Amino acid sequence: MKKDILETIGNTPLVRLTRAIEDAPFNLFAKLEAFNPGGSIKDRAALSIMKHALDNGLIEKGTTVIESSSGNMGIGLAQTCAYLGLHFICVIDPKTTKQNIEILQAYGAEIDLIIEPDKVTGEFLHARLNRVKVLLEEIPGSFCPDQYSNEYNAKAHELTMHEIVTELDRKVDYLFCATSTCGTLRGCSDYLRKQYLKTTVIAVDAVGSVIFKNESAMRLIPGHGAAVSPPLFRPGLAHACVHVSDGECVVGCRRLVTREAILAGGSSGAILMAIEKMKRDIPRDANCVAILADRGERYLDTIYSDEWVRKHFGDISHLWQQAEEFQTTAGGTDRTQGQPLTLIQLK
Ligand SMILES: Cc1ncc(COP(=O)(O)O)c(C=O)c1O
Repeated sequence: MKKDILETIGNTPLVRLTRAIEDAPFNLFAKLEAFNPGGSIKDRAALSIMKHALDNGLIEKGTTVIESSSGNMGIGLAQTCAYLGLHFICVIDPKTTKQNIEILQAYGAEIDLIIEPDKVTGEFLHARLNRVKVLLEEIPGSFCPDQYSNEYNAKAHELTMHEIVTELDRKVDYLFCATSTCGTLRGCSDYLRKQYLKTTVIAVDAVGSVIFKNESAMRLIPGHGAAVSPPLFRPGLAHACVHVSDGECVVGCRRLVTREAILAGGSSGAILMAIEKMKRDIPRDANCVAILADRGERYLDTIYSDEWVRKHFGDISHLWQQAEEFQTTAGGTDRTQGQPLTLIQLK
């Protein structure tokens, strides 16, 4: 029996995937973070940050918590704040989906909507962060979890990695991890280093994200990728980085649901396609772990809508429906967007 809902965060299942990648000579396992009560891996970060803040007197009864988030972190914080009885203001922009706004409100969060992008950079992210600063000044004793730079975001994932390592008897040869604040990557990587494990860590980022110093570009799928370089990032956290386009994310997600019956979010599809690109480099019998960050329900109007997919990428359904099309796109061009594929070796 669990003491309360927050105690159900973590200890998510590790599931064997046998169909998602054709002809894989290695063992593939998925860490299903969708099983967290708020539906994503960010429940862990939200709980870790809030617990540290409570234990250290940074928050107390009556504190208002303020964060900029349009998705999973906002929901994770809304959940933790609801349980702790704290007022939570979530600063969002017009790109936040109706469904996410409704989930946030259902948990009791106050929505603060920014309607104009930042005048200098043209980015909504900067406008949201500026609004958080204003609110923090206006509301006495308020607290910002600051997921982009809070070490307790990363520390939460030392435990995520511990769960994986324990379940696989320390034999984890490859870890694939999507990146945004880099909390997951940093925490997992720190744990592996402290445990003297030789796991090869692969970061999976979005085409158009600036984390690994690539050029900024418009992205359609939220979750992974970032428009700013996150302070939690450090060179050397990953051995290599694979960049995945929006179209490939769709293909990866659709393969996961048609082949493994796993309805997962965009970054999970990105991870599957990153493994597909690297599959010839992964040795036979290696244990390969993919951290799948969230549930697919939040993407029903996009990734899982045939109409939306056709509008943005044309008719690409053969890429997840037909076995003969089940070829890796590695070394060629991205058939969903015509972009060159990018695999950056970091070490
Ligand atoms: C769906 C999804 N995947 C991946 C990530 C990246 O996680 P992190 O912020 O720990 O880098 C996020 C972060 O919000 C996410 O929502």
